[in-house]
Amino acid sequence: MPVTVEKEVKRLRELLRYHSYRYYVLDDPDIPDAEYDRLYKQLLSHEEKYPELITVDSPTQRVGDRPLTAFEQIQHQKPMLSLDNVFSEEDLQAFNQRIQDRLRISDEIEYVAEPKLDGLAISIRYEKGLLIYAATRGDGSTGENVTQNIRTMHSVPLRLLGDDYPEVLEVRGEVFMPKAGFARLNEKARKNGEKEFANPRNAAAGSLRQLDPGVTANRPLSLYCYSVGVVEGGELANTQYEILQQLKNFGLPVCNEMTPVLGLQACLSYYDDILKRRDDLSYDIDGIVYKVNDITLQDRLGFVARAPRWAIAHKFPAQEEISKILDVDFQVGRTGAVTPVARLEPVFVGGVTVSNATLHNMDEIRRKDIRVGDQVIIRRAGDVIPEIVRVVPGSRKTPLPVIQMLENCPVCGSLIEQVEGEAVARCTGGLYCRAQRAEAIKHYASRKAMDIDGLGDKLVEQLVDEGLIDTPADLYKLSVDALSALERMGEKSAVNLVNALESSKHPALSRFIYALGIREVGETTAVNLANEYKTLAAVKNANFDQLIEVQDIGPIVAKHIVHFFQQAHNIEVIDQLLSAGIDVQTVQQLVPDPQSISEFYGKTIVITGSLPTMSRDEAKQKLLAVGAKVTGSVSAKTDYLLAGDKAGSKLTKAEKLGVRVINESTMLALLNTKKM
Ligand code: IVH
Repeated sequence: MPVTVEKEVKRLRELLRYHSYRYYVLDDPDIPDAEYDRLYKQLLSHEEKYPELITVDSPTQRVGDRPLTAFEQIQHQKPMLSLDNVFSEEDLQAFNQRIQDRLRISDEIEYVAEPKLDGLAISIRYEKGLLIYAATRGDGSTGENVTQNIRTMHSVPLRLLGDDYPEVLEVRGEVFMPKAGFARLNEKARKNGEKEFANPRNAAAGSLRQLDPGVTANRPLSLYCYSVGVVEGGELANTQYEILQQLKNFGLPVCNEMTPVLGLQACLSYYDDILKRRDDLSYDIDGIVYKVNDITLQDRLGFVARAPRWAIAHKFPAQEEISKILDVDFQVGRTGAVTPVARLEPVFVGGVTVSNATLHNMDEIRRKDIRVGDQVIIRRAGDVIPEIVRVVPGSRKTPLPVIQMLENCPVCGSLIEQVEGEAVARCTGGLYCRAQRAEAIKHYASRKAMDIDGLGDKLVEQLVDEGLIDTPADLYKLSVDALSALERMGEKSAVNLVNALESSKHPALSRFIYALGIREVGETTAVNLANEYKTLAAVKNANFDQLIEVQDIGPIVAKHIVHFFQQAHNIEVIDQLLSAGIDVQTVQQLVPDPQSISEFYGKTIVITGSLPTMSRDEAKQKLLAVGAKVTGSVSAKTDYLLAGDKAGSKLTKAEKLGVRVINESTMLALLNTKKM
């Protein structure tokens, strides 16, 4: 084998170690991942050609090929300690006082503060810089040999960097699973129908205690070192903080939130700061650990039982507690989603009293097999809505009824629909359902829909909350007076809004369809529908088979459209809009066949009141189809007023102006009379 290959292999290994260190320890990679992979492959191919060059600390040697039959026991040369806990400021103060008393120091004590990671403790032994073994804490004096598994973790160096490390160095730290990796792992388990891990801590423990290191290698485990055990043949610094900086320089990962703090108050500020940021950290923590920084003082303080006197864990409020499900209610969201919510026996968790928790949807209830009367584990992490993690195993003593979805919306009584392939159940009330109104109206007024200037989300909510509007049609009834009476609304803005509403009354068909907020009907679908059907009436009457022939419309969207127009509530709102004067523009004014030119061709007609056999919209479509123009208000230019029952001001005005007034049967008769 050429000497140059040997040199090259050494160079590649050093390079790979350095880049791993930048990536995992400094969190500051300076080459792209692809470049790392390229170097790795180069090394691998040299080693394949010359296997005699392979060393145990080569970056290629992380995953062994041999699953174990059992874990060997390892006796810790120096016991692995545990920590005492405090849960309050007073208890922390007492801890600080005890230290000052014992050391007879009245000055502030310097501590090192760092997050208390929620994982499992590990001791990793390096001899002459080479990773020799790794053991779990076990009972503190004997642990399990998990070397094979620890070697698969890329953040654990197989060989230390530099050359000023002690001959024997045992580092101690916490193996944990970052939140994102945990979420991915559980997502995968769910997809494969496998059991999920309850929390990142269990996932980390389960992943490390695998007999097959191939499994561990695929688990997203991380390590932060927080202290040292045996140190022989070399010395480390004399403060906790500097020792950890040394570990970092040897290539070992250390939590970058770790910092020295002077005195009790600084400890408390650190605690508050991390507690606030708890949810933003990429890993789970359950408190803060403070350690006396000066090693000489640590030695003077010594131990009690299994815990050092010089360190303490200041725990955060628990994020998980047990409670009981008293009942399940159903809430209707703004998009119509019907969400089951558990009513709980009040429980203090995550710093607040929780008495409700979302159950998300029926699939979730079924998957977790949650029933009314069950003892459950409640989790509240930060500002996240409390949720039910699982039923307390073995807690159900008697059979309990299965939770069922409601058939009707608890807000508006409309049918609740469960679309196939979707987890969420929805109220079909649409614009009619109070829970969905504000959202529907916001959508209606939005820029790509009716584009009503000055009608923002906040104002819509205010109008709905004050009971001034229930449906988009009510917008057109708003008066300047009513609007100016609103908080934060000047008269000028009120006038502008009424004007904007007025000028929005002639939308293109596609905009109007889009504005209706039919599920999954976006702008493009709306345009396709308008182009295909030309008039609103035709869209309304289209059946499923016809709809799926339209460009870009598949069975799901077609179903939503048919369904939307089948709902009496929705038709009511559309009719109200049309009577409010919304004059939907047909796609192209239909060019009438000369044979069918009727009396109404080119005439301007206003429709008012309720007609005996058809809706105003149907009448309008008939008129449009023969080339009439249908408008919303009576003026001198109006040729006919088609008046039904309860015709009001429009009729009076027409009579005053001498506009010809006709009823439905006259209209039908005139429709059929050819002009020529
Ligand atoms: S120091 C003498 N620091 O908490 C030093 N422990 O409840 C003893 N832990 O067994 C440990 N984060 O597994 C220390 N920053 C941290 C820690 C930490 C998590 C764990 C560790 C220990 C347990 C004690």
